[in-house]
Formats: sequence, structure tokens, C-alpha cells
Amino acid sequence: MRAAVYSRYGPPDVVRIQEVGKPIPRDNEVLVRIHATTVCAADWRLRTADPFLIRFMNGLLRPNKTKILGMEFSGTVEAVGPAVTRFAPDNQVFGGTGFQFGAHAEYVCLPEAGTLAAKPENMTMEEAAGVLFGGFTSLHFLRKANIQAGQNVLIYGASGSVGTFAVQLAVHFGARVTGVCSSSNVDMVRSLGAAAVLDYTREDFSSAGPVYDMVFDAVGYSGFERSLRALKRGGYYVRVGGSGKFLAILMGALQGIWVSATGAAKVVGGVAAGSREDQLFLKGLIEAGKLRTVIDRFYPLDEIAEAHRYVERGHKQGHVIIVMDPPR
Ligand SMILES: NC(=O)c1ccc[n+]([C@@H]2O[C@H](COP(=O)([O-])OP(=O)(O)OC[C@H]3O[C@@H](n4cnc5c(N)ncnc54)[C@H](OP(=O)(O)O)[C@@H]3O)[C@@H](O)[C@H]2O)c1
Repeated sequence: MRAAVYSRYGPPDVVRIQEVGKPIPRDNEVLVRIHATTVCAADWRLRTADPFLIRFMNGLLRPNKTKILGMEFSGTVEAVGPAVTRFAPDNQVFGGTGFQFGAHAEYVCLPEAGTLAAKPENMTMEEAAGVLFGGFTSLHFLRKANIQAGQNVLIYGASGSVGTFAVQLAVHFGARVTGVCSSSNVDMVRSLGAAAVLDYTREDFSSAGPVYDMVFDAVGYSGFERSLRALKRGGYYVRVGGSGKFLAILMGALQGIWVSATGAAKVVGGVAAGSREDQLFLKGLIEAGKLRTVIDRFYPLDEIAEAHRYVERGHKQGHVIIVMDPPR
């Protein structure tokens, strides 16, 4: 099968299309022919080993464990192992490979009990491919920060994969949402249900003082001091995004522990995870018309290096979709 493979850390061109072995499903596994996948922030972070800690997980000098990126997909079941009961060939599905990656390929195998489910009926394959990375991340952190109806929640970086889902989910949970993005994304973020949208090129979200119960930083640029100024005492400061040197990460973690200990704010961070239950929860919201995937642009698999280049700039609107077999 064809797959996008990277065998050294570096710029987008390290990703090459190659022939690799087609996976064979084990007894409890489902083989999916991928129709669409995404290039997300985790893909370029693994490709560039940013933050550096990635090298301790995926190979110090070169990627050893994960060589095919891609965390989310939609597709059609091609074959199932003999112990599989919930899926059958030709089922249309969407799923997530999580930290196994591997979705930038024509086929992927997943355990039946993994994050794999029937595609939402009201979504295209391309839309369904972009649900889980941003959806799982937003759901994980909003719950970790104990989101409650009636809260005033600020989503910083409201226009990316995480931000677009965070806005919609926070609205679903009954919060009054203020989104922060650049001028060109204001209308889109408002269309997701944000009650107010601030353009970060024109205004400072902290100028209104401590009015938010939660500052949810989806991209890592909200700034510690500024976010604390905008939070009510004891509010949640959620740090989803961010990169940097080991020392900066360590200092940020210590700052968080200190601020939490003083009671000024509860600082939440870490790595998001999603489960099959979370996937079904998101699917339910999609089918109820409460959640949608925002798509910026499409690329064929052959142009995946271009997709990486675009995504790494950090200004995509929602999702960048790779379509495996685009109509010719
Ligand atoms: N902790 C975890 O488990 C976890 C999980 C998933 C993702 N992440 C991290 O979360 C971050 C966001 O991921 P993503 O997939 O949402 O990325 P993305 O889709 O690339 O989001 C980029 C968005 O950030 C906005 N942005 C760029 N510069 C900005 C600035 N200076 N101020 C405000 N907004 C700015 C852009 O909006 P404009 O074009 O309007 O500027 C763009 O829409 C990444 O760093 C990723 O690694 C962490």
C-alpha cells in the first residue's frame, strides 16, 4: 500500500510517499481502507521533534517507533478478524489511531474495541476524518477543568482544530463563550456559537479584568500573566498548546504548581486522551446538529509535504484534510 513515511526529523520534505506492507488484521482487528485523514499539529510536532521530549518517545536521533504519521481518519471497512462482531466489510467508519499514528496510509488496522465507530450519518467522509484530534482534546480539557453551565469561558486560539471544537463543546455545556482569533476568523468563530469574539490583533482579552471562570488556551500564546489577569480568583487556566525548550516547559510546569498552590488559579495541562465512549459522545452531538468540522483545505496524499508546510505555519482554519483517492 502507499503511505507517507518519514525516516528522519526535519522539514516537510522528509515526508515521502512509499510502498509499505499492507497491514493484516488480527483476530480482534478491523482493516480500514482510508478515504480521508488530516495533517494535525501532532503530525508536524512529531516530524520536527518539537518539543525535544518527543525524541525520548520516538527515537533520539531518528524516528524509530512511528514512521507513518496521522492520528484520525474516515474510511470503509475492508476486512475483519474472526473475533470481530460489531463491524463488517463495507461499513463506513471514522476513527483515531492516537499515539500509534499510522493514518497517513491507504490502510490501517484498529482493534474492534478501539476508537472506531460508524461514521456520523450527517457528515461527509472528509468532515468525519477531522473529528477526533480536536474533539478528544477539547472534551478532555474542558472536563478536566470541570466546565459548568453559566460559566464565562474564554477560548484562546478559537479557530484551529482544537479551538473550533472547544468553542462548540463549551457552548454545548452551557457556557457563555468568548473566542479569541485573528480578524479573518471572527465570523467563523461566531458561527460556532461564541457569544463574543475578540480579534487578538486589535485587542487584549485581559483588558476587561478578572471576568472569566476559565481561560482555555488552545494554542499556547495566551501568556501566563495575561491569563491570570483575566481569570476570576480560583478560575481554571487550561494550557493545551505550547512547545519550547525543556527548561521553558519545566518553568511553566513549576509556575502552574505555584499558582495552583496559592489558590489564585487552578492550572490544568498535560496530554489529552480520548476513549470509545468519548467518540460516541461526540458522534451523538454531531448527529444532533451541535458539532461540526470546520475544513480549511484539501490535499491529495501525493501533496502531503505541502499540507505539512501549510499546517506548520500555525494559521489553519479548523482542519486540513488529506483525501486518499480524490476524483480525477
Ligand atoms: N496537550 C495536548 O494533549 C494537545 C492535544 C492537541 C493539540 N495540542 C497542541 O495544541 C495546539 C493547537 O493545536 P491545533 O490543532 O488547534 O492547532 P492549529 O489547528 O494549527 O491551530 C492554529 C490556530 O492558532 C491560532 N493562532 C496562531 N497564532 C496565534 C496567536 N498568536 N494568538 C492566537 N491564536 C493564534 C490560529 O488562528 P489565527 O490564524 O486566527 O491566528 C489558528 O487557527 C498545538 O500546539 C498542539 O500541539 C496539545
